[in-house]
Amino acid sequence: MSHPDRFVLAGVMGWPVMHSRSPRLHNYWLDRYGLAGTYVPLAIHAEGLRAALRALPALGFSGCNLTIPHKEAAFEIVDEVDPPARRIGAVNCVVVRPDGALFGRNHDGWGYIESILEAAPDWRADAGPIVVLGAGGGARAVVAGLTDRGATDIRLVNRSLDRARQLERTLGGPVRAIEWASRNDALDGAAMLVNTTSQGMVGQPALDIALDRLPNTALVSDIIYIPKETPLLAAARARGNRTVNGLGMLLHQARPAFRDWFGVMPEATPELRAMIEATI
Ligand SMILES: NC(=O)c1ccc[n+]([C@@H]2O[C@H](COP(=O)([O-])OP(=O)(O)OC[C@H]3O[C@@H](n4cnc5c(N)ncnc54)[C@H](OP(=O)(O)O)[C@@H]3O)[C@@H](O)[C@H]2O)c1
Repeated sequence: MSHPDRFVLAGVMGWPVMHSRSPRLHNYWLDRYGLAGTYVPLAIHAEGLRAALRALPALGFSGCNLTIPHKEAAFEIVDEVDPPARRIGAVNCVVVRPDGALFGRNHDGWGYIESILEAAPDWRADAGPIVVLGAGGGARAVVAGLTDRGATDIRLVNRSLDRARQLERTLGGPVRAIEWASRNDALDGAAMLVNTTSQGMVGQPALDIALDRLPNTALVSDIIYIPKETPLLAAARARGNRTVNGLGMLLHQARPAFRDWFGVMPEATPELRAMIEATI
């Protein structure tokens, strides 16, 4: 929704929130496209989320992003959700309607797919089995994105098998839950491997997996972006696999949100990527 004749406000609600890169992203685009507006971090406690979201129209906000720990709670609060948000069960973007109603969206799955296509334009979701490690919030978005893109075989491996089975039930189709003990074997013949667990993130141990069974033609992606190269991506690169980190997902999910609030679909330029990388 575009508001060309006034100062447009948006922000990100989280707790904590000051680590969020979203203000830098959106303010970079506001400047680049010469739009009048600003994007602010909003430190909101879980108990205050409902009141904060409901206050958006009165405060003149066009909408906001949601980050940890609010994505699932916001899904329950908003008035309407788009199909990706419904499938993922979480909202990462709220758009304030002209009548003040809150429209919840989720661009994480779309952003993930865009990041893969940007790094590997010839990539196809139906090229072969895809192994997804993890079954948390990030996995839901990734699996929904892969499924929408036509994936035919998703081997979903998670430490807690119950959580993988739940995702298999809700997202269905090509998703098959596999127990954590079989993660090395699950790589056999895979065209793609995606890490959505927190393992390998700064402050966390490396992911415990052996890549021997993974074809070296497979694309290896990690949705983590701090560090830029996780131990998994370093090991994959060393054996000749193409690799993609999580920064592109972060940049690309922001693009349709910016369009929703400010009326322009922005580009994830190399300059923007370098600017965000410099903060890591
Ligand atoms: N690039 C992006 O834009 C983007 C977007 C979203 C998330 N992320 C990143 O993705 C990662 C996960 O985020 P999330 O929101 O999905 O978190 P989450 O909902 O808490 O899920 C965490 C996942 O990691 C697994 N896990 C945790 N410790 C483990 C261990 N020791 N061994 C094996 N598996 C383990 C969990 O398994 P259990 O189910 O067994 O607990 C679960 O599947 C974070 O690093 C986050 O920063 C990046």
